[in-house]
Amino acid sequence: MPITEIKRAGLAAAVKVARQRSTAGRFSQRNMATAVDVTAKLTDKSLFKQTALVGAQQVTSSKVFEVTDPATQAVIGTVPDLDVAAVDAAIDTAHDAFVSFRGTSPFERARVLQRWNALMLENIDDLATILTYENGKPLAEAKGEIRYSASFLEWFAGEAPRAYGDVLNTSVSGHRALTIKQPVGVVSVLTPWNFPAAMITRKVSAAVAAGCTVVIKPDAETPYSALALAELARRAGVPDGVLNVVTTKTALAEVGQLMCADERVKKLSFTGSTAVGKLLMAQSSASLKKLSFELGGNAPFIVFDDVDVDEAVAALVACKFRGSGQTCVCANRVLVHTRVYDEFVEKLVRAVSGFTVGNGFADGVTHGPLIHARALDKVTHHVADAVAHGGEIRIGGSKLPGVGKLFFAPTVVANATPAMAVAHEETFGPLAAVFRFETENEALALANDADVGLASYVITNDVRRALRVAESLQFGMVGVNTGIISDCATPFGGVKFSGFGREGSKYGMEEYMVVKTVTLGGMPPYAS
Ligand code: SIN
Repeated sequence: MPITEIKRAGLAAAVKVARQRSTAGRFSQRNMATAVDVTAKLTDKSLFKQTALVGAQQVTSSKVFEVTDPATQAVIGTVPDLDVAAVDAAIDTAHDAFVSFRGTSPFERARVLQRWNALMLENIDDLATILTYENGKPLAEAKGEIRYSASFLEWFAGEAPRAYGDVLNTSVSGHRALTIKQPVGVVSVLTPWNFPAAMITRKVSAAVAAGCTVVIKPDAETPYSALALAELARRAGVPDGVLNVVTTKTALAEVGQLMCADERVKKLSFTGSTAVGKLLMAQSSASLKKLSFELGGNAPFIVFDDVDVDEAVAALVACKFRGSGQTCVCANRVLVHTRVYDEFVEKLVRAVSGFTVGNGFADGVTHGPLIHARALDKVTHHVADAVAHGGEIRIGGSKLPGVGKLFFAPTVVANATPAMAVAHEETFGPLAAVFRFETENEALALANDADVGLASYVITNDVRRALRVAESLQFGMVGVNTGIISDCATPFGGVKFSGFGREGSKYGMEEYMVVKTVTLGGMPPYAS
């Protein structure tokens, strides 16, 4: 059924929208207010930085770009639109700072990370406010991200002194060998807009713990969280030049090319799309730098027929609609056993009808806008394509122009099939497409039919099946009986076109270190 007919049938917009008062109502008009004063909501106004940071210098430029609130399109500020020369200078600064920073004690680095963690938590309200302004996620969810973000600082403060080497016996008698782990050098960090704070600390805290210096390029949609975190890092005692933040929009391609090709940069860590990951890898080949990439996903969420359906729905809601569906680990294909299918869909629709969509600052709002028009177009296309292939919209299914330009109703589509675009591409939006399966093998075949492999989920009470399916899923991460798998203590990363390398956990620091072998000759077995 075409979307227009579904709308006519009254099925489309059953999701609640926040009462439009104050900013939300005003800005949902065309030509809405052009600017807001972000600092009006901040206790510490100096956390809202509109300058880049290189060494100790707050860098300005005659060329700037505007950053807007996705809920309202109001301009929230500007930041320098730096060119390649400015980014080259930042790499130089990080390169100089590395000479002394690599020699600091890991205990010293741990103390700095601990102080940075404490400062983040002390300033959680301001950081969350900045995050909601630039990303749109509801304030409570933004606070959750700040806590998640800070947890990486706490975690890697603990890991810093534990970068142990080994003492090895060798095949040559009279030889001994040691391994020591050393920081790789200057690191370029390219972060996305969907977790403006957490993706910074997940990378940077591991790099700093290892003794590396960094140049961060946050996404142009969300530079302010990165700049606020850098200010807190400075206050925590991160030495000048260790953490640099460059902002750019028009020179993005050239800056990316520089970060890949420059031989002073020894490591590049990127979170973003598979297409960009492939480009960055090609561009890094001449400099042969260390890479870690966290790229796109297309997560299957498999629900077997032995489960408590309410619990399965709650797990899916937490997983699918986090950040309005804009995370790399959001479920994209919901595979439900035919025996519980109807009950599952019905309860899912009921749960979604309890959402409140609106401006992230409005009371009671559970889901915010999408980040930009391209994101909205993709969800719209996936819904239309699903309907064209026999999908049935059970709730949502359309944009919410009355709420704002970038809002899409959380949507459930039943009767999803592999013929649909949503089966093969990540929607990155609030669309839950529910597929039906009859056997475990069928579910696994559907789940593994993807060129990416980041997160996956299985919901079952059968412990043997849980392990069998978890081992058979071709994904870097599997959530069993949970929709939430992200944690500072567990390795985060994918296989196939979802990239390589692991962030967080005891493995995360390895990405920023190199193992050096020291072989000692002339060692008699015992002194005589
Ligand atoms: C991502 O979407 O890239 C990160 C999600 C997470 O850390 O949970």
